[in-house]
Amino acid sequence: MAPLSPKPRPGVLDIEAYVPGESHVPGGLKPVKLSSNETPLGPSPKAIEAFAAAGTALERYPDGQASALRQAIARRFGLNPDRIVCGAGSDELISLIAHAYLGPGDEGLYTEHGFLLYRIVILAAGATPVVAPEKDLKADVDAILARVTPRTRIVFLANPNNPTGTYLGIDEVRRLRASLPADVLLVLDAAYAEYVRRNDYEAGLELVATTENTVMTRTFSKIFGLAGLRIGWAYCPAAVADALNRIRGPFNLSAPSIAAGAAAMEDWSHIEAAVRHNDEWLPWLTAEIEKLGLTVTPSVANFILVHFPKDSGRDAAACDAFLKQRGVIVRRVAGYGLPGALRITIGSESDNRKVVEALAAFAGSQA
Ligand SMILES: Cc1ncc(COP(=O)(O)O)c(C=O)c1O
Repeated sequence: MAPLSPKPRPGVLDIEAYVPGESHVPGGLKPVKLSSNETPLGPSPKAIEAFAAAGTALERYPDGQASALRQAIARRFGLNPDRIVCGAGSDELISLIAHAYLGPGDEGLYTEHGFLLYRIVILAAGATPVVAPEKDLKADVDAILARVTPRTRIVFLANPNNPTGTYLGIDEVRRLRASLPADVLLVLDAAYAEYVRRNDYEAGLELVATTENTVMTRTFSKIFGLAGLRIGWAYCPAAVADALNRIRGPFNLSAPSIAAGAAAMEDWSHIEAAVRHNDEWLPWLTAEIEKLGLTVTPSVANFILVHFPKDSGRDAAACDAFLKQRGVIVRRVAGYGLPGALRITIGSESDNRKVVEALAAFAGSQA
């Protein structure tokens, strides 16, 4: 008889683990890493300073309320700090929300090419994932509403979405909220909100403030340049903040994270510089890649989705391998139902030029 061994809950081993963007290339080349939507500007010098200062008292537990960080966020956006919950990346908050509001028999909804973590956290909570189709690589409010059932507990919407870079205007988001049943939590994942330059876009602060059933998550990993520290925050109705605070780890953010995040929030000129950089290079990269005869989905974030022909040798997989040989790492997105595309982060000027050169060489090698 086989010896007994511990078994995870049913379903856990059916979950496909999240595959992060790659960071290594063959031959020890220094990679041009454009695979994880990190900022080429790095963090604010003030955040680096605060991080270093926090390193002098590592024997102490951090403030379990992350008060300095919540207050800095509240000041910046004019929010009630009691309704802000911080997490080790917005990943942790998305996971906490799923664990607080989903269980076996419940359904969690997300869209066809939506951020892959949603599926993982829904399954991890023992619930059933339900996928709404998108239209032209963009979330479709009617399709989402059509998949709502009495078992639906959460709708996750990345706005803008990763990996498509598309977004829903605030009127559509409001329509979604107004048409969802009141007991369905709408989670607006606004990881790339700071990059968006569109008059009809809002991250969702007002919706959170004026409804009892909408949460917005944000991150310090993208435009703030602090991905390595793992800092995220959620703006929540009071009852949701209460639920999340009951189940989160009591010290879920480290002291250096709290200090660096708070300092980063105070340095808005750094964020503005990152927005200006993106405003310059997002259109440039899009146009240069289109000149090579490839299709680019119009993006409002700090990355673009590039579509390749299906022909063997010219497809996304072949291009990915070609780029990697030249030290350029981009993101395959087959796991998002987009086997014919690659996602490319807007990098520094030199990285952007290198990726275009490498793509041109790939196109030339196929001609
Ligand atoms: C849409 C979206 N949401 C959330 C995250 C998670 O970010 P983090 O956990 O680093 O805050 C990411 C990261 O890629 C993302 O693209």
